[in-house]
Amino acid sequence: MALPLSGRVGDGLVDELPLVWSTPLLICAIATFLGVAKVTSLLSGNRKSAETLPPYAPGSMLKHIEMVTSKEYPWWLLDVAEKLGQRCFRVSIPSSMKNKIIIGEHTTARRILTDPLSSKPIEIYSAMRFLNNKGDPGMFTLNGPSWHSKRKASANAFSSNLIRRMNEAALDYTDVFVENLKSEEPRGVFDVSEAMLSVVLSALTESAFDYVISVEESADMMHDLELALIEFASKTPTQIHRNWFSWLIPERRRAVAATLRLRELMCRIMNNYRENGPKSDGTIIQLIMENDSAFKTDDEKLAQLLEFFIAGHETTAYSISWVLTCLARNPQIQAKLRSELSALTPQTWSQSKYLQMCIKEGMRLYPVAAAGSIRNVGKDLKTEGGFILPKGSTCFIPMMLVLNNPDVYENPREYNPSRWEHPTREMMDCFIPFSLGKQNCIGQSLANAEMQTIISRLCSEFDISVEEEGRIEFFLTLKQIGTKLRAKKVE
Ligand code: HEM
Repeated sequence: MALPLSGRVGDGLVDELPLVWSTPLLICAIATFLGVAKVTSLLSGNRKSAETLPPYAPGSMLKHIEMVTSKEYPWWLLDVAEKLGQRCFRVSIPSSMKNKIIIGEHTTARRILTDPLSSKPIEIYSAMRFLNNKGDPGMFTLNGPSWHSKRKASANAFSSNLIRRMNEAALDYTDVFVENLKSEEPRGVFDVSEAMLSVVLSALTESAFDYVISVEESADMMHDLELALIEFASKTPTQIHRNWFSWLIPERRRAVAATLRLRELMCRIMNNYRENGPKSDGTIIQLIMENDSAFKTDDEKLAQLLEFFIAGHETTAYSISWVLTCLARNPQIQAKLRSELSALTPQTWSQSKYLQMCIKEGMRLYPVAAAGSIRNVGKDLKTEGGFILPKGSTCFIPMMLVLNNPDVYENPREYNPSRWEHPTREMMDCFIPFSLGKQNCIGQSLANAEMQTIISRLCSEFDISVEEEGRIEFFLTLKQIGTKLRAKKVE
């Protein structure tokens, strides 16, 4: 999961421009006044480094700012790559960051992500700290020794034990959902994203946090999280000004109130753990609550728990809902999957190669972490095309761009699980929806197991079709909103 691409206005120099013009607000004002401005492209033409740095995306600085903070960001990236015939390009955004470079080549992405000198730009990631209201950091927003101690302390939670418990809980909650499906009118019709968010959140809360979340708590949590994420994660370019004038901005006040309610929920979960003790060993909550060296204060424990809560449920739930929708749109593929699953038992569903191919292809076509990872490079690197990424550059690695490369995947915008039957080495190398390197997704084994369990459970029992197509939204994750599927019991 990564933050939308954003810099912070008013933070420092605009690296593409001569120093004398370096007040970002002035530049924005001039660009606005002129109403045009290929400003940065024109000025950067004078600089020698522009010959070897990747080219700029077309459009003015204002256009870049608009696009990288908009819901259109993933689609704009695909569009720019096609127009430029180039998957590495610069964007022009006023901020203290050195060069802002989009990386869509998997080979270059891999080099950056696995380089030990690469690190997260904290000025971007720290926006997530607003979500816990007090600004304490969790591993997602850290580098160095503090990141390492938190990552190490939590790693054991993703053992096969937790995965088994999580799978059992996911199956139980899917069963409850299936029962409701049979009784609710219109029969068998459900909002796929809402349903999966509820199943995944309940399963995660029970198996990883030893807490049974109520329907009201779950609905409130999702509402509050959305308010907070829209304000704090997608408006980072104007964060500083929104901080100064927060009392004047109603959305900001509402978002702050939402973060307080998220905090209250986490406090209830922590109190529940303290009152009742651990239900089983090695859960996320136990590893965090019992470790006073990696998580020194209650505030730090709360921040880390909330981070897991957020990172662990939306990503998995939307990935499942995308795969189910792809299967619903493609009845033949769905029938083939059902036939494969029928030859297996629920205990062996996960061994189905075709199931893995269907999931992989859904994650490739609709990568929930569409904006991917962001890293500052710790040494000079080169792209495949020979462009230089100077040390200190900020590289944005959007999964949407990496996983939809037509040079690697034929007809990339087509849902075609069979492409994974005999994948090339390049296709495999390019498939990095959980990112790579030391700061990759810590929860990927859990997410994979959960996706396999829930999708198999639903597809083996139901014939799923599209009742109503919804819309795609992007902020922080790639979501589908309002898509309704119909599930009819297979005879
Ligand atoms: C399909 C589901 C998921 C996807 C696609 C996904 C994707 C990602 C990606 C791309 C990153 C790297 C973000 C970056 O570099 O900025 C990441 C990091 C992370 N993910 Fe996931 N994730 C998923 C599920 C989960 C689950 C189930 C959990 C935990 C319960 C989780 C916890 C985390 C955490 C804590 C990090 C930060 C790791 C670090 O900085 O060391 N994720 N995830």
